[in-house]
Amino acid sequence: MDTKLVNSTLGLLLNIFFPIKMLLKIYSLCILMVDIVWVMFNTMCAVLQAVYELFKPPPLKSVRLETAMVIGSGRGVGREIAIQLAELGAIVICVDKNISSNEDTVEIIKRKGGSAASYNCDVTKKENVKMLATRVRKDLGFVSMLFYCCGIPSPRSLLTKPPQDIHVTLDLTLTSYFWFIENFVPEMKTKNHGHIVALTSVAGLSYIKDQMPLSVAQFAVQGLAESLTEELRINKIDGVHVTLAHIYPFIVNDENELRLKIPSYFGTITPSQAASSILDGVRRNYSEASVPKYLLYLGHVLRILPRKATVLIRDLLDTGVDFA
Ligand SMILES: *[C@@H]1O[C@H](CO)[C@@H](O)[C@H](O)[C@H]1NC(C)=O
Ligand SMILES: *[C@@H]1O[C@H](CO)[C@@H](O)[C@H](O)[C@H]1NC(C)=O
Repeated sequence: MDTKLVNSTLGLLLNIFFPIKMLLKIYSLCILMVDIVWVMFNTMCAVLQAVYELFKPPPLKSVRLETAMVIGSGRGVGREIAIQLAELGAIVICVDKNISSNEDTVEIIKRKGGSAASYNCDVTKKENVKMLATRVRKDLGFVSMLFYCCGIPSPRSLLTKPPQDIHVTLDLTLTSYFWFIENFVPEMKTKNHGHIVALTSVAGLSYIKDQMPLSVAQFAVQGLAESLTEELRINKIDGVHVTLAHIYPFIVNDENELRLKIPSYFGTITPSQAASSILDGVRRNYSEASVPKYLLYLGHVLRILPRKATVLIRDLLDTGVDFA
């Protein structure tokens, strides 16, 4: 008698609740569909916008009176970036461990009427970077832009220099990034203003013997830029930008250095052209830029091809560039 009553009430309840459950399911399915459609729509918009920006790039932002720190300003691309930043009206803080070549950079800038200060620092040591940060903050205040140009291998140094100690390579190319991020980025975050530029060069490494630590460090820098961007996005800090600039080793001043076929097809470029191309990407707030520019797109396209195909194209270009 009792069990019958329980059973029938249970049945009644099930009858009432089952359709509700169904409805709930259908409802959540609808929500999911709406979400998917929304994401797809926005993805399409983003693709269209990217294509549009290919032809009409966003405007260049001004760097006038920004305080820009260039790490590795003693030579090469770093020096050119420092000089061009000063020409654009930025206050440039030149950091290098070679005092004399860094002084030369500052001299060049001052002669052109720009403002710059030189700081001598071995950036591989955490204490040194901390001291540098304290000094710079006292002298010039808030640093709003960071350009990290150390550890970019030139094709020549890759071939002629003996492979360095793994720790030395990683400390210079990767670990020191963390000291700079630790010391300079928190202030950018609180002010919601700033720009961090990381330079990386992966090309031409995969076939050069005994340079694996360097290659790994260059890839790690890409991961670092990625996670820094993500951290800023998740914390909704939209005024601090990160730009990752890939440099393909075209920056060859003298001939017959490497058995590169590409330069003969596409020509070489000078450090100063490279620097202006990088600054162009930075001033448009691009998250990724490359020197030369078109290789970024080629790299993206190649990433969706199967491995076999990318290997074929790589061999054709004969650079050892691993786009994927
Ligand atoms: C510093 O740079 C100058 C010129 O650029 C170079 O001759 C010298 O060897 C460098 N010194 C060190 C310690 O690397
Ligand atoms: C780049 O970012 C800065 C600061 O967030 C902003 O003022 C500027 O308008 C942006 N420029 C472009 C082209 O997005």
